[in-house]
Order: sequence, then C-alpha cells, then structure tokens
Amino acid sequence: MPWERYHGEFTGLAPWAHPSLWCPRPYPFPVPRRLAVLAILGALLAPLAGCAAGPAPATPTRSTAPAATPTPSASSHIPVATPTMVPPPPAFDRAALSVDDPSSLWVVVNKARPVSPLDFAPPDLVEVPVAHTFVPRLRREAADAVVRLFQAASDEAGLALASNSAYRSYEAQQRVYDSSVASNGQAFTDRRTARPGHSEHQTGLAIDIGAVSGRCSLDPCFGTTPEGLWLAANAWRFGFLLRYPADQVAVTGYDYEPWHFRYVGTPLAAELHTTGTATLEEFFGLPPAPGYP
Ligand code: DAL
Ligand code: ZN
Repeated sequence: MPWERYHGEFTGLAPWAHPSLWCPRPYPFPVPRRLAVLAILGALLAPLAGCAAGPAPATPTRSTAPAATPTPSASSHIPVATPTMVPPPPAFDRAALSVDDPSSLWVVVNKARPVSPLDFAPPDLVEVPVAHTFVPRLRREAADAVVRLFQAASDEAGLALASNSAYRSYEAQQRVYDSSVASNGQAFTDRRTARPGHSEHQTGLAIDIGAVSGRCSLDPCFGTTPEGLWLAANAWRFGFLLRYPADQVAVTGYDYEPWHFRYVGTPLAAELHTTGTATLEEFFGLPPAPGYP
C-alpha cells in the first residue's frame, strides 16, 4: 500500500519514520487500527527519539536544588524538563478564626469561657431534616454537615442516626439545667450539663446524636454501640469533634459524652484528627476548664 494512501496525504516518509508517530498526540477522531498500532509503537520509541512537538514529561528527582533552565539555542532544540519545586503545605493558621466570637465556627465555650454576650442567638438557624426526638435546629452550615454525616452513616455502615438535641437557647439551657439539678443535684448536674450561658448548644454548633433505636441514648454506653463507634471514627470527616472524650474530663470539665458532637468545620476537624489533638482547649492553647471560676 502506498504510504500516501496510508496517511491520506503524501508525506514521502514511511509510517515509522513520520514525526507524528514518534510523538503521538491525542486523536479527536477514530483512528484506523493499523495506524493506531503504529502510534503505539511511536509512543514507545518517542522517549528514545525526543519529541519536537512538546516537552517530555518531567521526571521527579530527589534533588533539592533547582536545575538551571536550558536556554534555547540553534544547536539544541530538545526541551529539557525543569524540575518543579513543590512547596510544603502551609502550616495550619490557628488564628484564622476567632475563638471568642460566638458566631465563629471555632468559638471555644466551656466552664471558664461563657458565651458572650450571654443572650447570644445564632443568626442563621435552620431546621435539620434528619430523624430526631426533638425538632433539631442548627446553624445552616452545621445543619448541612449533619445531613451529610447521617447519610454517610447510612450509606457506609447501614446505621440509622437520630438527633436528640441541637440548638438550645439560654432559656432552654436554664430549664434543662434546673430540671437536672432538681432531679440529680448540682454536683452531678455540673458534670453532665452546662449552666446557662456556658453551653455549646447555645452556639447552634453542637448536636447530641443517638441511634434511631434509642439504644444507649445520652448514656456513656453509646460509645460502644455501632453508631457511637462509627461516629467516633468518622465524624471528623464531616467537620465534627467528639467534644467530651473520656480521658479529657480534667480539661473539658464534663464526663464522657460520646453523643455530643461539636461542628468546627472540616479544616479544623481534619487538623485535630491528623495531629491527634483531643480538645479545642489544647489546640488553641487555652487553659483547662475543669470547673466554674
Ligand atoms: N452536656 C453539655 C456539656 C451541655 O450541656 O452543653
Ligand atoms: Zn450536648
């Protein structure tokens, strides 16, 4: 077969000698089978021949010093890849958001750091469309994250989660606290329930999560259920922190609450996870808050 018929145009070169076969380019149209075979051969030979149509792919090296960029000259037309220096990822900026502003995703609320002002109410509360015992409301971003979290628990592990409590106003927290004191006494209550003005629930960023079955709801045994175990391992991926771990009572001032999750956003949640930091107090260099001042 004449080569000019092979290519549809006269080149005067055998297929294996044609530069377009040494340096194959993507074909936006179906390629005849024999031509495709030659193109593959060309691709294999291209590294040996050098390609005039474009630079060869950069080969990673262990060199830390940047190589000199070649200067085009009449004697050499073969491009040489310049090793790319990959800068290290920027250090996490722990001061990017406020830990004092109650509308900040990073606000730190504990027994020593009340919500300020005390009557703060989040501006963007929305209902969270998930299973619940009481209609949950959270700040919009946290609400969206809860929906994703619950969906992932279902999709990935076949678990059905439910909200037991989410946003609580100062007044609602007062009722919860007073009711517990009446039933359980103040000492017990202060280990389990924040005084009004000191609860993360007032920020619209905290949620108490349980199983739809109700098994171990608001009980430390929730941490041993499939739902509690899955949440402890995966909530960070959705921007949540298990806020009151069993071994951090001296820092948080609260007993183990495997159901209480605090939304902090995915960047901080991931940073806490990868650095193995258990509490916001430690991460931000804030004093432990075992009791009220
Ligand atoms: N149970 C947590 C500490 C709260 O009442 O906010
Ligand atoms: Zn809670």
